[in-house]
Amino acid sequence: MNITELLSKNPVVPLVQADDPAIAVETSRALAAGGLKVAEVVFRTDRALECLRAVADEVPEMIAGAGTVLSAEQANAALDHGAKFIVSPGLDDGVVSVAKERGVPVYPGTMTPSEVQHAFNLGLDTVKFFPASIAGGVPALKALASVFRTMKFMPTGGVSPGNLADFLAVPAVLACGGSWLTPKDAVAAGDFDAITALAAEAVEIARKARG
Ligand code: 3PG
Repeated sequence: MNITELLSKNPVVPLVQADDPAIAVETSRALAAGGLKVAEVVFRTDRALECLRAVADEVPEMIAGAGTVLSAEQANAALDHGAKFIVSPGLDDGVVSVAKERGVPVYPGTMTPSEVQHAFNLGLDTVKFFPASIAGGVPALKALASVFRTMKFMPTGGVSPGNLADFLAVPAVLACGGSWLTPKDAVAAGDFDAITALAAEAVEIARKARG
């Protein structure tokens, strides 16, 4: 199954942020225990590459991509460390071309029609919609989807258990991403059961929303 198919069947993508690979592994295992299958290990700490490598090697039940990838150089490093896909907050041609050359999916962040159109003309069929709640939420997403009829979207930024079902109910939405599944205080406290519970809650919301 390719990543896009996997995401359509498992449409919730948690963020894993850690400055210790062991914590990234525990967090990913906790998310998988709650039923999630795809995660973004985000490049927001100095040890993100090690975290990505550890999750890719030690948590086979979780498909790990790299998130917050800002440059072509970071994209190459992420792929060298086991990332199965790339997510960016914005749309960068260099990041997209690395992913295309190396044959992995890339989900760049877009917020405006011009950005979605640029992604379309780079040959992409799926983009992140970021920051989803501030950029107009479900109504904005529907307006974009009405003109970019073949484009799939991954809303991220302000997604929560309260609005997850609404986003997933939009036919153009492939999956939703977010950090609500891995609260910093739960990670810091080593409360991985709380993370499993949040993951299970999201899986249940997605099951109901998608049928
Ligand atoms: C991202 O990188 O996708 C966002 O930071 C996630 O946004 P959130 O923290 O509001 O879920």
